Amino acid sequence: MGGTMKQVVLAAYARGNPKPSDFRIEEAPVPAAGDGEILLRTLYIAVDPLIRFSLDETLLSGASRMELGAVMAGPSVCQVVASNHPGYAPGDFVEGRTPWAEYSAVAPDQPDYRGPPRKLDPSLAPVSAALGALGGPGQTAYEGVVNAARLKAGETIVISAAAGAVGSMAGQIAKALGARAVGIAGGAAKCRALLDLGFDAVADYKATGFADQLKAALPEGADVYFENVGGDVTMAVLPLLKRGARMPVCGFIAYYGMGMEGPGPDRLPGFYRHIMAKGLEIKGFAGIFAGQAGLNAIAGWMKEGRIRFPEAVVEGIEAAPQAFSSVFTGHDHVGKLLVRVAPEA
Ligand SMILES: NC(=O)c1ccc[n+]([C@@H]2O[C@H](COP(=O)([O-])OP(=O)(O)OC[C@H]3O[C@@H](n4cnc5c(N)ncnc54)[C@H](OP(=O)(O)O)[C@@H]3O)[C@@H](O)[C@H]2O)c1
Repeated sequence: MGGTMKQVVLAAYARGNPKPSDFRIEEAPVPAAGDGEILLRTLYIAVDPLIRFSLDETLLSGASRMELGAVMAGPSVCQVVASNHPGYAPGDFVEGRTPWAEYSAVAPDQPDYRGPPRKLDPSLAPVSAALGALGGPGQTAYEGVVNAARLKAGETIVISAAAGAVGSMAGQIAKALGARAVGIAGGAAKCRALLDLGFDAVADYKATGFADQLKAALPEGADVYFENVGGDVTMAVLPLLKRGARMPVCGFIAYYGMGMEGPGPDRLPGFYRHIMAKGLEIKGFAGIFAGQAGLNAIAGWMKEGRIRFPEAVVEGIEAAPQAFSSVFTGHDHVGKLLVRVAPEA
C-alpha cells in the first residue's frame, strides 16, 4: 500500500516517571506484508504500566531493555489490511503485541512471547475490550482474585489502584463472587466512580484523612489485599489486615523507575513484622496466565450485566507519550486508558 506513517520511538531512558519528552514521533514507510506475514492497521494502543520496566538504562531483571531510537511496543488491537497467512483475512480484528505505529507487519508463525495475534469477534463486545475486561487486565485481575487470593463469598477484599484497568476488574470480580470490595483510588471523582461500579466502600489515598477513611471502610479488617501500588498505601493497609490475610502482589507502581532499593527509609522491618505476627500469605504473579478460564468467566458475568468494562480513550498516536506518562503521574480516567490510533473500518 506504500506511503508513510507515524510511529513512537524511545528518545531518552526515563529517570523516575516517564515524561512525554522521553519519546519522539517519527515518520516511517508503511511496511509491506512479507511471506507468511499480515499487515495490521493499529486501532487502539494500551498504555500499560509494565512497559515501564523496559525503559531503564540499566535493567533490574527480566524485561527486555529497549534501545534508544527503537519503536515502542505493547498491547494493541488492530485490523488486518492485507494477509499472506491462511489464518487471517483482511478485515479481521486481532489483539496482540505490536509496535506503537499506525501500521505493522507481523509474522503469526514467529510470534513473540505472547503468541500469535488473537482473533476477536466484534459481535461479542467492542474490540477495545480485548485490551481491558476481555484481555490482559481482566485475566490479571481474575488470576489475582481467584487463583492467588482464593477469595470466597462473604470475605472482604481491599484493592489499591482500584480505578485502574486491573483494579476496577478485580473489584467487580470480587462482587460477582459474593465478596465485599473496598477500593483505594486518588481523588474524590475516581472514588465516586468506583461506588458507581459497585464497590461497597472507598478510600481516597490523596486525601488528608486517608488512614481514617480506610479504617472506616474496613471496620472488621480485610481478608485479602490486592496489591498494585506499594509505598504509603501499603503501609496504611497492613495494620487493617486480618490474621492469615492473603496478599496477591500484582504490581508496585509507586516504586517503578526507582531501582532495587526505592526511596528509603527501609520499611522492610515493619513489613516483616506484619507478615510474621499476622501470618500473612503473600503471593506474587506475573505474565500470561494459563487457559481461557478467567476470560470465559468475565465474559459470562458481562453477559449477565454484572461486570462493566470502563475505558477511557484519547485520540491520535501523537497522544501516546502523554497518555503513558499520565499513568504514573495521575489522570482522571477510570478503567483502561487507550489511545485510539484509527477508527474501525
Ligand atoms: N502481574 C501482572 O501480570 C500484571 C499485569 C498487568 C498490570 N500489572 C500491574 O497492576 C497494576 C495496575 O495496572 P493497570 O493496568 O490497572 O494500570 P492503569 O490502568 O494504568 O492504572 C494504574 C493506576 O495506578 C495508580 N497509581 C499510579 N501511581 C501511583 C502511586 N504512586 N500511588 C498510588 N497509586 C498510583 C493510578 O491511579 P490513581 O489515579 O487512583 O492514583 C493509575 O491510574 C500496576 O502495578 C501494573 O504494573 C501487573
